[in-house]
Amino acid sequence: MRHYENPERTSENRCAPRSLYIPGGMSERTLLSGTWNFAYFQRDIDVPKQIEKWDTIPVPSCWQLQGYENPNYSNVNYPYPCDPPYVPDDNPCGVYEREFTLEKKWGRVYFVLEGVSSCAYVYVNGNYVGFTQGSHLFAEFDVTDYVNRGTNTIRVKVLKWCCGSYLEDQDFFRYNGIFRDVYLLQRPEGHIADVEMIPSDEAISLKIDGNANVRILAGEDVLLEQEMDNTLSFCPEKPILWNAEKPFLYTVELERAGEIISLKTGLRKIEISSRYELLINGVSVKLHGINHHDTSKFRGWCESEEELRSELQLMKELNINCIRTSHYPPAPRFLELCDELGFYVVCETDIETHGFLRRLPNVPYYYDVESNAWPCTKAEWKAEFMDRMVRMVEHFKNHPSIFMWSTGNESGHGSNHVAMLRWTKQRDPSRLTHAEDACRKGQIHNTDVYSMMYSSLEDVEKYALCDDINMPVFLCEYSHAMGNGPGDVWDYNELFDRYPKLIGGCIWEWADHVVTVDGVQKYGGDFEGELTHDGNFCCDGLVFADRSLKAGSLEAKAAFQPIRTQLEGDVLSITNRLDFTNLNEYQLVLWVEEDGQTVHAESHTLDVAPHETVQLPVTYRPQTCQYGAYLNILLQKQGKVWASGQHKLFCVLREAEEAPLATLSEDEACIYAEGDGFRYTFSKHYGTFESLLVDGEEQLFRKMELTAHRAPTDNDRNIQFRWMQLNEWQGENLDVPFTKVYDCKIENGKILVRASFSGISRTPLVRYDLQVGIDCKGVIRMELDGSVRSDAIWLPRFGYELTLSGQNHQFSYYGCGPCESYRDLSHAGMVGLHNSDASAEYVPYVRPQEHGNHTASKMLKIGKLRFEAEKDFEINVSRYSTAALTRAEHTDELVADGYTHVRVDYKVSGLGSNSCGPDLEKTYRLDEKQIHFAFTIHPVM
Ligand code: GAL
Ligand code: MG
Repeated sequence: MRHYENPERTSENRCAPRSLYIPGGMSERTLLSGTWNFAYFQRDIDVPKQIEKWDTIPVPSCWQLQGYENPNYSNVNYPYPCDPPYVPDDNPCGVYEREFTLEKKWGRVYFVLEGVSSCAYVYVNGNYVGFTQGSHLFAEFDVTDYVNRGTNTIRVKVLKWCCGSYLEDQDFFRYNGIFRDVYLLQRPEGHIADVEMIPSDEAISLKIDGNANVRILAGEDVLLEQEMDNTLSFCPEKPILWNAEKPFLYTVELERAGEIISLKTGLRKIEISSRYELLINGVSVKLHGINHHDTSKFRGWCESEEELRSELQLMKELNINCIRTSHYPPAPRFLELCDELGFYVVCETDIETHGFLRRLPNVPYYYDVESNAWPCTKAEWKAEFMDRMVRMVEHFKNHPSIFMWSTGNESGHGSNHVAMLRWTKQRDPSRLTHAEDACRKGQIHNTDVYSMMYSSLEDVEKYALCDDINMPVFLCEYSHAMGNGPGDVWDYNELFDRYPKLIGGCIWEWADHVVTVDGVQKYGGDFEGELTHDGNFCCDGLVFADRSLKAGSLEAKAAFQPIRTQLEGDVLSITNRLDFTNLNEYQLVLWVEEDGQTVHAESHTLDVAPHETVQLPVTYRPQTCQYGAYLNILLQKQGKVWASGQHKLFCVLREAEEAPLATLSEDEACIYAEGDGFRYTFSKHYGTFESLLVDGEEQLFRKMELTAHRAPTDNDRNIQFRWMQLNEWQGENLDVPFTKVYDCKIENGKILVRASFSGISRTPLVRYDLQVGIDCKGVIRMELDGSVRSDAIWLPRFGYELTLSGQNHQFSYYGCGPCESYRDLSHAGMVGLHNSDASAEYVPYVRPQEHGNHTASKMLKIGKLRFEAEKDFEINVSRYSTAALTRAEHTDELVADGYTHVRVDYKVSGLGSNSCGPDLEKTYRLDEKQIHFAFTIHPVM
């Protein structure tokens, strides 16, 4: 066994863990981040030895992104044989070296590594100082006895793997190197060893080793200044409590031996109610959370403080109030920002052993959490598990934002977890505990919450109603946000609101993980030398890698938003979903649109206490409309929109005038209709229009086509085998469609078609009758009545595809916009009159896929055509064909063919989150067996 393969040796000479702060006063911090010498070796070398040739490398960084090795993305699989505690003998090694100068030698000198993967050997001036593993955990070494006044040399040898790598099988790009800040601390002899602050909703209790001068401040106001010895308890006269909405922080300053430690704390209390609600300061709170990995668009695991702050601010704008630090502790600064900006944090330690999952013959995925193959059951791994838990808790115990400690993710549940949970509960009874796998098979072990991932809505409701679950139910992961989606986040949050025991959860996950090469976002399998990889499963963020938003981001914002509204008759009810904030801090703007035109507007400042509902009369009566009338709602504050809503208002729709039918002529192949400014050709052979000439301009570049395929979204990755020609036995093969016309004739002045629609090699999917009336003004009335084969799979969509000239790229529509919308992802959009452009509809999903749909449409105008229907239909306008979107694996492979592709659809199925989550809910599937699709096409002259 090599030195780094011993799971009982988690460190050598590393300082005991303490809470994290940068001491001030006479203490100094010297940041050593910056350019270091670097030497990379294919396998472990003996250090110290003379290194002949140095490169340089930025610190922090991941060496795979600096030209040493290619990136590799793996989810569950270890990138080497699963043979604990051994790792490959060819274990690449990076040696880092730099000099630093000590002006004076005084006090104690510490060397700190905030994050290094997978393990590090530290040397100062040629002497071995110590060893650490646990990549995402702070490590501190006392180097006082190794440093001199003047110039010193520090070397850090980093190995790609160590036995600890078995505990770091998280779903991410596997990076190595010193990826967080590195610094020196110089502190006076006899400095405070550690500080513990335990806040409640009344008092702050302090614990230190010995005496110090203490000052407690609220803003600039000094509330207390005195000497303390070991402990102190302070009750502010009028305590201002901390919560995620109003994160008020007190400052605690401790001074000893010339050193000042300045810390922030928040007064708050965490409890579970008798109904198993999560109470923060006595108030039942729902967690609107996300899972956060450290991932930067260009720098892998290295996120700068600016990046962290701006993404946390973005989360606030998306109404997110909870973060799970999946699946390792974040950089220390991250938690300070969470305290300051206000988040409820589930702080999770650096443990995942997912690769121990058993592969049984004939069973692709068998989650054998109790099997004694998992390290969590083995005594020789206990030190590793405990070390990671103890360090996290000791480091971060002073953060008011943390309300729950988590033992990690997907690691089974064994005696080592039990030991971690027991220790944590006794060390810190003020917070809750979470263990992801503790409840996986319906068992409940030693935790404070019942943890679930990716349960269906139905199952979540079952847990809510199950009397055997005597604890809050927390969805540590749900609504897998991969690609276009997630489509189910609203429904989950409706359930959370309905049942006290459901305390909410965390969407998987915050941002896409990518490696950007020449402007193209790459993922697993794109790099040479990846021995195992998981494709684009790392591109599953609620926001893109550059933190730009997609429709799914806005859908989550809507699901989490501060209000829910309901219109019943003339009464609008507005419920304040905030926990600690009166709605009078916001402005509520209401307006009515008829056919997309504003006809009435009002605005209110409403006094609504948290969790209360207020009612407003809606007195405006809409006139007759062509498309419809809506009451629109926005909740605003500081120039920003925090919530939106929309309710359909009753109004009488104007009946379309029907002109007499045009006279049709025919020859063997086609039927013709001609009138003032139009000439249409309907193919009897194909049962569809092949030419629509309006005002002398051809509108169609190909015949209009009935189709049912969509370019599979990531959330279609399982169902696509039943839609496309990917599976020899199962697929409906919708990507290779055929239409068969049995009969096409003119009867009573209308065209009648009897036809069917099939995928290649399959029996007809839809048998239909199509009736086409064309009036003398050129208005086409299409009426399709179809029966879907009884044993067919539900369809991605069904409707007409049209290929228009690329010059016709601008369009307007009355429907749900401006962002794309689907039947289960439309809460952020508003039905109204929108203008857009084919290019503006494009959404740059990392792997190109279906996008740009608009639900609840009543009208689409593009080129010299206008489509309308009495019933809602769905529309889509794109520069890309479905085939091109289906084919491309990366954005640079997506080619526009110069046309504008238009879909006029009967229905499009929802998106769901089945890339990892449950099957698409039945209500959002297009699975009716009888289809009646009627719409009109108007010539626009
Ligand atoms: C979960 C896991 C996450 C991530 C997700 C898929 O099972 O906990 O870490 O892998 O699946 O994106
Ligand atoms: Mg995993």
